[in-house]
Amino acid sequence: MKSRENDSPGSVRDGAGEPGLPDGPAEFHTIGPDQQTFAALGRWVPEYGDLFCVQSRDRRDPSLVVSSPDYLKHILLSNHENYAKGVGFERVKMLLGNGIIVSDGEDWRRQRTMMQPGFSRANIARLSQPMRGQNQALRDQWRLLADTGQTIDITTAMSRLGLEIILRSIFSSDLDRMVDQEGGNPFAFLAEDTTRDIQTAVRFRNLARLTLWLVADRRGTGERPFDFLSLLMDARDRKSGAGMTDKELLDEVNTLIIAGHETSAGTLNWVWYLLSQHPDVEERLLTELARVTPGDDFSFDQLMDLNYTACVLKETLRLYPPVWLFSRRARQEDHLGEFRVPAGAHIFIAPYFLHRRPALWPDPERFDPDRFDESRSPPVDRFAFIPFSAGARRCIGDYFSFVEMQMHLALLAPRFELSLEVQSSLGPSEPITLDPAVNLRTLHSIHLKVRHRNAP
Ligand code: HEM
Repeated sequence: MKSRENDSPGSVRDGAGEPGLPDGPAEFHTIGPDQQTFAALGRWVPEYGDLFCVQSRDRRDPSLVVSSPDYLKHILLSNHENYAKGVGFERVKMLLGNGIIVSDGEDWRRQRTMMQPGFSRANIARLSQPMRGQNQALRDQWRLLADTGQTIDITTAMSRLGLEIILRSIFSSDLDRMVDQEGGNPFAFLAEDTTRDIQTAVRFRNLARLTLWLVADRRGTGERPFDFLSLLMDARDRKSGAGMTDKELLDEVNTLIIAGHETSAGTLNWVWYLLSQHPDVEERLLTELARVTPGDDFSFDQLMDLNYTACVLKETLRLYPPVWLFSRRARQEDHLGEFRVPAGAHIFIAPYFLHRRPALWPDPERFDPDRFDESRSPPVDRFAFIPFSAGARRCIGDYFSFVEMQMHLALLAPRFELSLEVQSSLGPSEPITLDPAVNLRTLHSIHLKVRHRNAP
């Protein structure tokens, strides 16, 4: 691979001497979560591979795009302290203040250590009970729709379900108090309006008063219903013994709401679509569900025994990782193989394109859940598959989301067949188009016709 001798564009050299920047496209481009970047990376990752440099007129420091599992391991795990959160997080900050997803250094470490126990297996097992109830309620709605041969806007349905699940997990029955007080679910707009612009940010931040009211109420009464809010309120710093301030609680609650609903919802949207296109996979999924989680009363351990279902979810996350692009910023100079990473360099990691590299994934465009079945395929390199990122800042909600998604499939998939008869809200001829914003979504809602399984 060629390398650039210094930071000025075009000064390319081969061979020995001081390590330089990697080569890259001649054109200028400012990488960001948008359609232009998505199209550009679709050309450049296959062409330049593991590591390349993109010049930008808007950024003084070089932008490096990293798609090599070894280099990713270095950035995300071995030397992660050298890499702070990068560009793109300013917009997230508008929504989430200094919550765990945007914070860095000591602030982040403290928050992560305090929050991590809340995500234990035992806690998630308890939270799976309301998840079951919410999916059973959805099943009742779908039953009526199937009776009358209707179509479901699966994109919106999954978004609402994801939001409802995370809100119940955070506020438990106090969500009902908020709904009563406000005359409706005050957070509902988050499932309908996915633009996440400044207006949404303002509207969302205005809901702070509700969370702070609940915090004050629980502090006053000492009541701690089992939910994330109570777990956060009772979390203590290991060294000082201090709990979170109201502002910290608010930022973390907001982080869990945003980080916790769109991602799982987006994945389930794709799962239903992919199942509708792959009857062979669907059949194997149904066979497993009938064997491992029959009926309604399966246990949490049974749910966790759904191996093929987990492979289907992983393969969906490989092809359509909701967080398709994320970034870091080098604090100090570093090296990746023979190349130099200057202090201040922007690092871009694009799971969508990493997950489709033929060098890492044979026949990468094919939907094949067996890739993740170790009895059939070689183990997957954990830095080649990073829908949840990896290393120290790996998603804290990865296990929660698998429980949530497996619960949904276990309760809904055996009862309903969803088929693609109208491709999108625009009509049958409109292909499913990706919308690569902060999260990877479908540009238009996917509409699926719902039928009872085994119905005549
Ligand atoms: C399919 C579902 C999900 C996907 C694909 C996903 C993906 C990710 C990714 C890629 C990151 C790392 C971002 C970065 O380092 O720049 C992340 C972080 C995070 N996620 Fe998730 N996520 C999912 C579900 C959830 C859920 C359900 C929750 C909460 C219940 C959650 C909460 C968080 C939090 C708090 C962080 C920040 C962790 C830290 O910085 O220490 N996520 N997620």
